[in-house]
Amino acid sequence: MSLMEEIIAAVDEMPPFPQVVQRAMQALAEPEYEVSGLVDILKVDQAVTANILKLCNSAYFGLPRKVSSLKEAVVYLGANQLRQLLLSGAASKIYEKPNEGYAVFADELWRHALATAVMAQVLRRHLRLKIDENMVFTAALLHDVGKVVLSTFVVDKYLAIESMVESGEYSFQEAEKEVLGFDHAEIGGKIAESWDFPPAIIAAIAFHHEPSSSPKEFRLLAEIVALANNLAVMVGYGTGVDGLACRGHDLLLQKLKLGEKDLEKLVLLFQIEMEKTCDIAGVSEH
Ligand SMILES: [Fe+2]
Ligand SMILES: [Fe+2]
Repeated sequence: MSLMEEIIAAVDEMPPFPQVVQRAMQALAEPEYEVSGLVDILKVDQAVTANILKLCNSAYFGLPRKVSSLKEAVVYLGANQLRQLLLSGAASKIYEKPNEGYAVFADELWRHALATAVMAQVLRRHLRLKIDENMVFTAALLHDVGKVVLSTFVVDKYLAIESMVESGEYSFQEAEKEVLGFDHAEIGGKIAESWDFPPAIIAAIAFHHEPSSSPKEFRLLAEIVALANNLAVMVGYGTGVDGLACRGHDLLLQKLKLGEKDLEKLVLLFQIEMEKTCDIAGVSEH
């Protein structure tokens, strides 16, 4: 089996992305989403329903009485918190695949993914972009999913890449290109394709390290994910094997007209939002 075939087989072994969550995201994308329609989608999944109720009744919200109806919980949480809960619940299962020897990496990667999603969400709001928020959060949250395949199924190759990055001369994806001939972004694109994600999300994942190569209609989303990825690393949510700073960072800042002041504000907003998102997703911040 060629390496590419091996990777494709590994992609097929990835857990599926829950249909319920995908359908809920489609429903939430409507500007005036219908609560009853959303409840109908969510109620078929007992685990999802239980999680929503659990969050609603958690100490985080400190509600004076117990919420026992899904409908009430959906209304109370609202689109933003529901999105974060549903997507982070689904993505954490994919990123935190228990794998001997990689527990630390998996945990770091998951935190990095969540931080990138929060950063992308903050960027979208700051720049007042008209891209659907679910799309931005989903693409950013899953941008490094290709690394899961590498670290889980192609461990020897992964170690070779890691040691090249540690030499200090390569960025992670440059080392991947050397060792594999392709990188985790491409693999991630294939995974998103296998999950039947919308083309914009597939492109944003596949081009998150070179957004300028993304098809034009999806380029802005790829740029947001790329920039959010860099910024997440800069504020301390890297994975320890990021290697050299991602190329093209300054160009992206210029293109999106972001100066020092904007960055300061973004970091502040990020910290506030990240704290909330970690509470909702049930992860500790560091
Ligand atoms: Fe990446
Ligand atoms: Fe990343």
